[in-house]
Order: sequence, then C-alpha cells, then structure tokens
Amino acid sequence: MSQNAELFERACRSIPGGVNSPVRAFRSVGGTPRFIKRALGPHIWDAEGKQYIDYIGSWGPAILGHAHPEVVRAVQEAATGGLSFGAPTEAEIELAELLIQRLPSMEQVRLVSSGTEATMTAIRLARGATGRNKIIKFEGCYHGHSDSLLVKAGSGLLTLGNPSSAGVPPEFVSHTITLDYNNLPAVQTAFAEHGADIACIIVEPVAGNMNLIKPAAGFLQGLRDLCTQHGSVLIFDEVMTGFRVGPQGVQGLTGIKPDLTTLAKVIGGGMPVGAFGGSAELMRHIAPLGGVYQAGTLSGNPVAVAAGLATLRLIAQPGFYEDLSARTQRLAQGLAERARAAGVPFSADAIGGMFGLYFMPSVPATFAEVSTADTQAFKRFFHAMLDRGVHFAPSAFEAGFVSAAHDDAVLQTTLDHAEAVFKAIKQPA
Ligand SMILES: Cc1ncc(COP(=O)(O)O)c(C=O)c1O
Repeated sequence: MSQNAELFERACRSIPGGVNSPVRAFRSVGGTPRFIKRALGPHIWDAEGKQYIDYIGSWGPAILGHAHPEVVRAVQEAATGGLSFGAPTEAEIELAELLIQRLPSMEQVRLVSSGTEATMTAIRLARGATGRNKIIKFEGCYHGHSDSLLVKAGSGLLTLGNPSSAGVPPEFVSHTITLDYNNLPAVQTAFAEHGADIACIIVEPVAGNMNLIKPAAGFLQGLRDLCTQHGSVLIFDEVMTGFRVGPQGVQGLTGIKPDLTTLAKVIGGGMPVGAFGGSAELMRHIAPLGGVYQAGTLSGNPVAVAAGLATLRLIAQPGFYEDLSARTQRLAQGLAERARAAGVPFSADAIGGMFGLYFMPSVPATFAEVSTADTQAFKRFFHAMLDRGVHFAPSAFEAGFVSAAHDDAVLQTTLDHAEAVFKAIKQPA
C-alpha cells in the first residue's frame, strides 16, 4: 500500500472521512488524497516525496506561491513575540488601515479568523441594521458553512429555504431565498414580492465555488440598484476574489460598490484571517458600539495578521496583477488550445489569478449550465495529470488558482502534460 493510502486509512480511523474539510477527500474524483508534507513556490510534495505543480494554492490564499520567504520571516518574527494575546495590537490597526485604503467601499473593518465567520456576521449585521429577516443568495455560490447559508435551491424562480445539510432546521433557512446566478429578473421578482423584508443580497461577485462563473453584463449593477431602491444591504463576498482577481477585488474591476464586503484567504497569506467591512454607518451596529454581537478569541491573531500584512505589501508591487493575469490566461488558453487540438469538448476561462476548466464546449454562465459538464472526462483528466505531477482541484466544480511563482517553465510543463492527457482522454477508455 502506498504511504498516501496508509495515511488515509489511518486518518479515517480518527477523523471523519479522513479529512478536515470535505473536498480534500477526493470523493468526487475517487482515489486517494495526497497527504502533503511541504510546499514551496508553485510546488507541493506528498508523503512519498512526489512533487506536484499545485493549482489549488490552499484554495486561494497562496497568491505568492507557497512559503514565500518574506511571509515566512514575518510569521517567525511575530511568533517569537508571542502567539496570541487576546488584547489589541498595532499590527491589527495596520491591517485594517491597509484593507480600508485598498477597498474604498470599506470605512471600517472587523477582523475574524475565517471566511465563514466573516459572511455569517455580515448577514447578522445586515439583519440587525435593517431590522429585516430575509436574505437572498444564489445557487452554486458558497459562503461558508453557517446555518442560514447552507441552502440548496430547487428549480423555479423563488426557492424558499431547503436546507442542504442535515442538522439545519428548516426554520433556520426559511428566510433564505435562493435564486439563479446571473438571473436578474428573478431577483426583481423576489424584491417585488418581499422587498420590504429583504435585509440583504449576498453574492460572490465572480463565482468561484461552482467552478468559475463570471457575472453577466448588468447583473451586479442590477443587484446594486435593487438594494439601493429597497434599502437592502448588498454584500459582496470577496473571500475568494478579494486581492485575487485584482488589487481591489471585483468591486475595483467593475466600479460597483457593495455596502459590505467579506474577505479571507489572501488577506491571511495562508494563516487564518477573515474580515468584513463597510461604511462606518453600518459598522457602528457591531458590538461594542451596537447591538449586533460578534467576537473571537483568536480574531486579529498577531501571527496570522503578520502573514496577511506581509502578503498584502508584497502583492502591491506595480505590475503584480498584470503579470499574474497573463500567467493565468496563458494556462487557461493553452489548455483550451490543446483540448481543441485533441478533439476534447472543453473550455476554460480566467480572471486575475483564478481560472475555470470546463469539460463542455463553451464557457458556462449559470449553475444549470456548469452542472452539465462531463464529470467522467474531468476525472480522467484529473487523475492522469495527478499521476504526471500536476495537482488540480479534485472536483469538476471548483475554481483553480495560479500564483506569482508559477513561472513560464512550470506553465509549459503543465501544458505539455495536458497535451498528452487530452490525447489520451480522446481514446476510448
Ligand atoms: C466565496 C467564499 N465565501 C466564504 C468561504 C468560507 O471561507 P472559510 O473556508 O475560510 O470559512 C469560502 C471558502 O471557500 C468562499 O470561497
């Protein structure tokens, strides 16, 4: 038995499913998850010492590549000064100031430890500030695992509250309206029916949890207008897109200003940091100023904040995003060209340092469209690339991530392997 398989078997005895977050378990692609021992730049190494080019990047945070020396140094220095104080630090102010300076929609920001905490609290804040109950989310958008956000939409325009996880009482999600991403008329209908009780819309302004789906022209502006018209709070969940698609997230690319923004991943540089922020007017509802409660033993943790600050300073270099986008485009286009040459129905898309791979002829625009992807072809592609030392996300419905450390040689190696793999996929199994 391979060492990865041995570790997986052992893990399954003490950890449910052998993993601490479900997608890591390879359930949708089958096979054995690789147990990672170390990582550097664009590479990860598993328990057997096998090297992989990594396109997961810790699901987004590793924008500089793994273990960037300056980030590691900042973490080491912070750790030497103490791991956690449960009292305020100057570094937290620096991180808050930096976030506010980079994202002009935020006048104040509260640091937390994960994206889940950020979105959960942003929703509570929207409800507390408006005195309303209902929230709108979109099918295929993931906002962490808090109760009111774990809702699967059924078909139809307005699906009111179906929990998609056991353990979530239907009453908890009865105020969650789930609509189709990129379907503005459905949102207009929801506001026409429930406008006076809609506290907020929460949206991934570029969706990265149903593969990569970009907003259709006018969709985000339509959400902005409806929220303004009805006094609802527009929440951009930029946990994935923040500092990933560009220096000011999707709000910088589109010029559309949300009322609240949630962040995590890149802002922690690989350590647990999340954040939510907006106007001072809205943020004054948060305790200790207002009645919306939120707290955290490790919020603003000094070691995590040091990693985030070092990362955000490094990615502020001029030309960083132009270079990152060019690398990501080269990968996406290169894969699409090689698939086309091999005759495999495939398309790819990219924005900033994020990309989507679709085993279907054209880039999808909705959850329903992306759901028709050929998952069997994806599985064959995934495992063949893994065998060759290229680690994509183990699901046909996750976005991929390129870092600044994915240099030309690494991209070329990936494309060379993909060329052979696409040809093999075309052969009968
Ligand atoms: C858009 C978005 N929001 C929220 C979350 C939850 O973040 P976390 O896993 O840090 O709790 C994620 C995680 O992938 C995400 O992609």
